[in-house]
Amino acid sequence: MKILVTGGAGYIGSHICVELIQAGHDVVVIDDFSNSQPEVLDHIKEITGKSVKFYEFNILNEAKTEEVFKDNELDAIIHCAAFKAVGESVSKPIEYYTNNLMTTLVVTKMMRDYHVNNIVFSSSATVYGDPKVVPLTEDCPLGETTNPYGTSKAMMERVLTDVQHAYPQMSVTLLRYFNPIGAHESGLIGENPKGIPNNLMPYIMKVATGELPCLGVFGDDYDTPDGTGVRDYIHVVDLAKGHVAAIEKYNKPGVHICNLGTGQGYSVLEIVHAFEKVNGVKVKYEIKERRPGDIATCYADPTRAKEELGWVAQKTLEDMCRDTWNFAKKH
Ligand code: WQD
Repeated sequence: MKILVTGGAGYIGSHICVELIQAGHDVVVIDDFSNSQPEVLDHIKEITGKSVKFYEFNILNEAKTEEVFKDNELDAIIHCAAFKAVGESVSKPIEYYTNNLMTTLVVTKMMRDYHVNNIVFSSSATVYGDPKVVPLTEDCPLGETTNPYGTSKAMMERVLTDVQHAYPQMSVTLLRYFNPIGAHESGLIGENPKGIPNNLMPYIMKVATGELPCLGVFGDDYDTPDGTGVRDYIHVVDLAKGHVAAIEKYNKPGVHICNLGTGQGYSVLEIVHAFEKVNGVKVKYEIKERRPGDIATCYADPTRAKEELGWVAQKTLEDMCRDTWNFAKKH
């Protein structure tokens, strides 16, 4: 299939492009490099031997987005382009709602007008809010999310669901990611956010390389085994393979919802200690105040992905830590 990956130069998008190409698909990418680097496109070519067809602009530019749909006979879309930092979204709600919602509305309008009937949407476990009922399942009622990022994802799920109800020939897949970390085994692509990282693992990586002096652990007074936040960390390559399975197997009319997680939760300090042990490095940290918008615990019920997609996360926490460090040493 010819598949458009919006945000395809980003951390998750680039890994999805690699897996799509290696599964035999042709890939088109739109990215504005607001949270990614141009050289990622070269690295995708180095890994797969094939180039993506690339367009540089933000999807808020509806005219340019329409040109892409005109120029390409698209079979499907994987919509990753979005702002995605929980903490940052609390202080920048206008930017998060504008970017995340408007880009999704532009994409769905083009799908309708150009008869592209298969979309896989990069959603998030943050749509579950703070359910207190863990492990999370796809059917868990959408709680009151705890931050604008999570709310924007829940709103985009609503938009896509309503669009599918209006155009019943469409296949809309909502993949709720847990915490993607790690990097491709080549070390050529990985998570390299611009500026100070919002997320845990890239921050640990930059402390281990000496680029940042110390990790702040946001709270050790949560109701968890060691007091620090527990999350379901999933290797980004496992996550990317889940997209290939979804775009191929859910390619039938309807709304399909699935968690992409391992079902295993790890605390912040467990991640820090695993990273130190696997890579033989020291990660200096200090306990800080809780971060607004954070919840104590969140990990997946991955049953539906296994039953409906035949997909199960394969890689271990050790793989995630080792591949992150391998990427760091090459950049
Ligand atoms: C993880 C844990 C923090 C940074 C992410 C993505 C979001 C979504 C869900 C895909 C928390 C703690 C973090 C730091 C810390 N994924 N932490 N010090 O908030 O779970 O959200 O997964 O859609 O896009 O952002 O991930 O890595 O920011 O935090 O102590 O410097 O690490 O409190 O417990 P989060 P995160």
